[in-house]
Amino acid sequence: MAAATESKTVHSAAVTYVSMISLLTLCPPFVILLWYTMVHADGSVIKSWDYLRQNGLQGFIDIWPIPTAVAWKLIACFGAFEAALQLLLPGKRVEGPISPTGHRPVYKANGVASYAVTLITYLSLWWFGIFNPTIVYDHLGEIYSALIFGSFIFCIFLYIKGHLAPSSTDSGSCGNIIIDFYWGMELYPRIGKNFDIKVFTNCRFGMMSWAVLAVTYCIKQYEANGKVEDSMLVNTILMLIYVTKFFLWEAGYWSTMDIAHDRAGFYICWGCLVWVPSVYTSPGMYLVNHPVHLGTQLALFILAAGILCIYINYDCDRQRQEFRRTNGRCLVWGKAPSKIVASYTTSSGETKQSLLLTSGWWGLARHFHYVPEILAAFFWTVPALFNHFLPYFYVIFLTILLFDRAKRDDDRCRSKYGKYWKIYCQKVPYRIIPGIY
Ligand SMILES: NC(=O)c1ccc[n+]([C@@H]2O[C@H](COP(=O)([O-])OP(=O)(O)OC[C@H]3O[C@@H](n4cnc5c(N)ncnc54)[C@H](OP(=O)(O)O)[C@@H]3O)[C@@H](O)[C@H]2O)c1
Repeated sequence: MAAATESKTVHSAAVTYVSMISLLTLCPPFVILLWYTMVHADGSVIKSWDYLRQNGLQGFIDIWPIPTAVAWKLIACFGAFEAALQLLLPGKRVEGPISPTGHRPVYKANGVASYAVTLITYLSLWWFGIFNPTIVYDHLGEIYSALIFGSFIFCIFLYIKGHLAPSSTDSGSCGNIIIDFYWGMELYPRIGKNFDIKVFTNCRFGMMSWAVLAVTYCIKQYEANGKVEDSMLVNTILMLIYVTKFFLWEAGYWSTMDIAHDRAGFYICWGCLVWVPSVYTSPGMYLVNHPVHLGTQLALFILAAGILCIYINYDCDRQRQEFRRTNGRCLVWGKAPSKIVASYTTSSGETKQSLLLTSGWWGLARHFHYVPEILAAFFWTVPALFNHFLPYFYVIFLTILLFDRAKRDDDRCRSKYGKYWKIYCQKVPYRIIPGIY
């Protein structure tokens, strides 16, 4: 079964236990403390720390918002709306990469349409006075609290579904209930034939909520102060460009690690349903109550630098996809690409071939595309300037996440391609300065 093969490539049982215990015990309180500090403690970690020191555990319990009916309703409306768009909007038929068991998932690529309809609907509801997005900001703590509990229950559902009604052959138990729950049972869980759960959790809920919350923060600042500061504008524009890029490239995302290799478990689904709407959007959350004025020149400089980083990150992903799609028959930076033809064996014993690109962005350094990803996050955070540390938490978290991801991806590719991966690593090492060493 795929699960048995793939489980070799996720972390060991010991790392899983430590990681799971930390995620379960530290991440939910962190999300609440992050929100509390940004919204009620002036973004100051010291203020929150003083509060906790004075009031202890009871103080922490007092600030943890109880999920209210309003919060559940907002989440349910957003989730149902996104699920309906995913199912109903037209889109091109796209095939995902072939899985270890030889299964090829098929998707409907309607991400850009869903994204456009979502933002137009949200802004129209505000413009015509039907729904005020500030309600979302004012209930943010309750929303996060509801997401924390709701997503945990959703992951239990995924675990049970993986046992009782898996959607494809890419599923199975590794024999350890904790690892199964944490790393997931199914690679491609679906409800019915067409509703892909990972597309929903990762793209249509997680990434979409990022854009919706970015707009919400901007509107909240406008409604509170009567204007939107240039720092907030730069932050919102960069985050929206990043999410727009994501939806333009969504079909490509379906062949990355998150979808093609990581099974639908607590690690990835909880992350997309809770961590993305809270931590990923946090620089904007901070700016709502901190209307920093940058001045036109500095604002434009940060905006241009951020756009450039997002573009380079996009172009790296595009280059790899184009190269794979055309089977190496494309131009990379105006030249025929240099490549390694690597063969590997599937879990059913079939030998297959794959191409590894060694020129263009992919010849500069291994996992080079993570550099502009981290820099882009820095540029949409830096409008907050340096009065507080907390807005930079996402950049630091992302750096750690991508280091871990690079290691996991290397381990997986080494076990998949064997000697070919060794040749690839010699040709494209990790380099501190791309192209030099
Ligand atoms: N903001 C966030 O939280 C976050 C988190 C993660 C990723 N991202 C972004 O998402 C995008 C995708 O990143 P990713 O980490 O999922 O992985 P990725 O780098 O797009 O894909 C890795 C896979 O590409 C294939 N590959 C590796 N080297 C190759 C080469 N030289 N030529 C051709 N194919 C190669 C391998 O898969 P095969 O088995 O097909 O060979 C490998 O497993 C990036 O832009 C990244 O920055 C963002």
